[in-house]
Amino acid sequence: MSGLIDNLTVNLGERSYEISIGAGAIDSLGEKLSSLGFNKKIVIVSNETVFKHYGACVSQSLNKAGFEVFPIFIPDGEAYKDMRYVESVLNEMFTVGLDRKSAVVALGGGVVGDLAGFAASIYMRGIALVQVPTTLLSQVDSSVGGKTGVNNPFGKNMIGTFYQPRFVCIDIDTLKTLPERELRAGIAEVIKYGIIRDAALFAFLKDNRQKILSRDSAALKHIIHTSCRIKAEVVSKDERESGLREILNCGHTAGHALETVTQYTQYLHGEAVAWGMYAEARIAAALGLLPAAALKEIRDLIEGYGLPTSIPKGIAIGSLVEAMIYDKKTVAGAIKFVLPTEIGKVKIIKGIEKEFILSVLKSET
Ligand code: NAD
Ligand code: GLY
Repeated sequence: MSGLIDNLTVNLGERSYEISIGAGAIDSLGEKLSSLGFNKKIVIVSNETVFKHYGACVSQSLNKAGFEVFPIFIPDGEAYKDMRYVESVLNEMFTVGLDRKSAVVALGGGVVGDLAGFAASIYMRGIALVQVPTTLLSQVDSSVGGKTGVNNPFGKNMIGTFYQPRFVCIDIDTLKTLPERELRAGIAEVIKYGIIRDAALFAFLKDNRQKILSRDSAALKHIIHTSCRIKAEVVSKDERESGLREILNCGHTAGHALETVTQYTQYLHGEAVAWGMYAEARIAAALGLLPAAALKEIRDLIEGYGLPTSIPKGIAIGSLVEAMIYDKKTVAGAIKFVLPTEIGKVKIIKGIEKEFILSVLKSET
């Protein structure tokens, strides 16, 4: 196994930060945070599932560098990503006595990262945040780019901030304990980067399926590094999603609709995005934007990773399209899609007729 750690930079002027990627990256976390000059009291926000596996090695690395570590736990699950737990995390941070030079380490998947990130962004108007993502999805997507937030009864991620971390530590070894279904769901976001920006990544995913699914360290490092490089480039150019960053939403208009209609109980986010990417590719093909051969390649890759391209008959297509209209990205009723035009290229299209979307999604796949 390669012990080498790769480094990437998200270029945002004074708020630029490094992403370290590699097996054993957690070992040098303490040293790195020391070099960033944080106060000695440090909080780790995590859940018990993740902390049981990685709490000790993260704490050891921090202790070795002279930090005093205070773990704060939230319950495991999307259902707890809400204001109640933001408040409880903030209260514990005050009890520990963190000050504005202290740091918060988010150790876990996207739920922990989004909630801890939001809490860090509002504690005393913002203290340093360090992301230590432990799911594939959080390693390739949510830990990079600064979107933080929680859910409320009006929808997912409706409350939040743009707040960049000071450092992202991606230890590939943490994926060894990740449940198989979560690994596959994370691959959906990697396929997304291939579709929007990188035909070579798409081909790598096609040619190395067995290695990736058997968690070969070099193959995982390659797809994580490439995904983070793409995300870093996009975020560096458009931090607040006023243009280019929208391409990261490929598959998400339809995918979010599927999550909404199934009340977040049937599909993991990545699974819904996988279906959404194929649904949106079908819309692109029906509009004459995407050649049939590329549509088939997208379908084959998604299915090859055991991800869905079709949904049970019981799910009403009409309610899916209605849910798309209520998507955060919809402005004045014009649904916005990020549609592929070839593998590695996408176009943002607004205002496609509702009836047209319905007819495409109702037709045989
Ligand atoms: P998650 O955080 O719920 O983690 C999935 C499950 O895996 C959990 O049960 C968790 O405890 C467990 N787990 C985590 N790491 C593990 C490990 N190494 N070994 C064993 N078990 C482990 O889910 P997720 O897919 O990481 O994140 C989903 C969340 O991310 C959603 O809330 C979504 O809104 C958010 N998200 C945010 C962004 C962003 O840009 N901020 C982007 C995409 C998704
Ligand atoms: N996950 C999409 C984004 O970070 O913009």
